[in-house]
Parts: sequence; structure tokens; C-alpha cells
Amino acid sequence: MKTATARAHPNIAFIKYWGNQDDVLRLPANSSLSMNLDGLYTQTTVIPDETLFSDVLVLNGEIASGKSLERVVTHLNMLRQRCEIVTHVRVESANNFPTGTGIASSASAFAALTVATAAVFEISMTERELTTLARRGSGSASRSVPTGFVEWHAADTHADSFAESIAAPEYWNLVDVVAIVSDQHKATGSQEGHTTAATSDLQIARVNGAADRLMRCKQAFLARDFATFAEVVELDSNLMHAVMMTSRPPLFYWLPTTLDIMQRVRAWRSQGLNVCYTLDAGPNVHCLCTADAAPEIQRQLQQVAGVMDIKIATPGGAAVVIV
Ligand code: PMV
Repeated sequence: MKTATARAHPNIAFIKYWGNQDDVLRLPANSSLSMNLDGLYTQTTVIPDETLFSDVLVLNGEIASGKSLERVVTHLNMLRQRCEIVTHVRVESANNFPTGTGIASSASAFAALTVATAAVFEISMTERELTTLARRGSGSASRSVPTGFVEWHAADTHADSFAESIAAPEYWNLVDVVAIVSDQHKATGSQEGHTTAATSDLQIARVNGAADRLMRCKQAFLARDFATFAEVVELDSNLMHAVMMTSRPPLFYWLPTTLDIMQRVRAWRSQGLNVCYTLDAGPNVHCLCTADAAPEIQRQLQQVAGVMDIKIATPGGAAVVIV
């Protein structure tokens, strides 16, 4: 059998995914909307090997074991079942961005693994099916398969919860200027967070309003109406963090610098800069802005005490097989 190598970008959600209707199938509680991040990627090579008795995972040059290997093996078993193939594989995966930069790697990792495995087993699949399979590894991975700006649909069945591109990367020249305020590994990852989301009294309200926020966000995005876009993106991020903080046990991801930057971003916007913030399951602040505002946002962030590093990403393309 041949080998296959794929590349996928991580993504930042404008409308967040937090909590599942079904944890095993990773059917999300609500639909979400995101942008792929160009320049950052996971590159994964899948090498089938008839002599292996179990899968091998090499992560950023080191043989992996424990939880990360287990999660990849579970995903490979699901893909093998779909492809009706039993061969074990060696997976070599590396990120071109260091872990601890606050940019989640599970989305790009499971998107690249899914696309490379389907290619190596020579099973032709629609992009839609690939997004459903990537979703089983990590929910947000479904959004890293299609190009540019992507909507992932909540649904009751595996086949119907898929992701699709709503616009190419060139549609709107948004920039994600990420303020890194901590390089610590987060204590509670999103996998565990999704399972406790429903313990917050606020999750029902967040989920009930999500379809409306997504529609408003999508309309503002398609109209390139930054003011409306900014208002709904910040609201949606605040709602997700309100749920996190009120879950049992509670999840507090913000650091003092996180809140400092959030307040500054709002002030910069009121002074006329096209910028808004959004946060994932961590303390780093993604400052989404239009390309003309990006140099000023970067300059301002460099002066904020507690900002350790700044990463910049423009809209990225689809997951692709490169060899
Ligand atoms: O795909 P996961 O399980 O890593 O969840 C992603 C959760 C958030 O990043 C917090 C929100 C999102 O929609 O990306």
C-alpha cells in the first residue's frame, strides 16, 4: 500500500460549539461558524504496515502513548470500519505551531488524520462525509476540512451533522491577531468541558439562542458588516464563557490580562478600529479585525503588560492531501 500526507489548518469559531447532544457521536448542541487559520497547520503522514499488530503514533517527532495514542487509535478504528480495511498504520504528525500557543491543535490534527487515512485506503468520499468522520475525532475538526469560512450543522444523526464552506478565504480579509497571555497547558480540555456544559443552568439559554446568533453572524459576515459581526461574535464568546464559569465543577479560563485585553478591544472599537475579541477554552485572546486594522492592533497589543507573544493568521483553505 502507498502512504499519504495531508495538511489541515486549525480554525477559530465566530459562533462557538460547546456541549454535545451525543458525546460518543460528537453531535453538537448547536451549529457553529468559523474561519480556518492560514499559515498554521498540522501535517500528517499515514503509513499502512501489514506487519504491525497495533497502530503507532509519532507526535512532533516523539513516539506517543497514553491518552493521545488512545484517541488516535479510536479514530483509526472508526475510519477502518468505514473503509472496510483492517491494516494497522504508523501515523507521523507534526504541527508547525508550538503547543501552548493557545491555538487548539485537535481540529487540524483530526482533520489531517481523517483526510490522509481516507486517501491512503483509497476510499473516495465526498467532502461532506469527510467532515462527519473528522467530527468523530474532535468536533471542531469537521470545520477544518472545508475551505475558508465554514458552518458546521447540528443534527440528530451522524450523516447530517456535517460542515460546509460558506465563503472562500478571499471573501473577506479578516485577520486573527492572537494575544498569547499564557503558555501553560490548560487544566481542563474541551473534551471534558463539553461533557460538563449541561451542568450549567445557562447552557439551555445559550443553546436556545445559538441559531439566531449564527444567522445574525452569517448575515453580517456575508454583508461584511463589521459592527454587527463584532457585537454577535463577542456576545457568543461571552455566553460560552458564562456557561463554563457556571458549570459544575466551574471552568475559569480567563487571566487578569485576558480581561484587560477584552476591555481594550472594546475601547479600540469605539475609537473606530474594526476589531472584536473571541476566546476558546483558554486565556489567550483572539482579536479578529479587518486587514487594515491589523498592524495597529498588533502595535497596541505589544504594549500590554502580560502579552507574551502575538500570532497572526489570515483566512485559510481546506484540508488537502499533499503527497
Ligand atoms: O473540538 P473541540 O472538542 O476541541 O471543541 C472546541 C471548543 C471551542 O474551541 C471552545 C469552541 C469552538 O467552537 O471551537
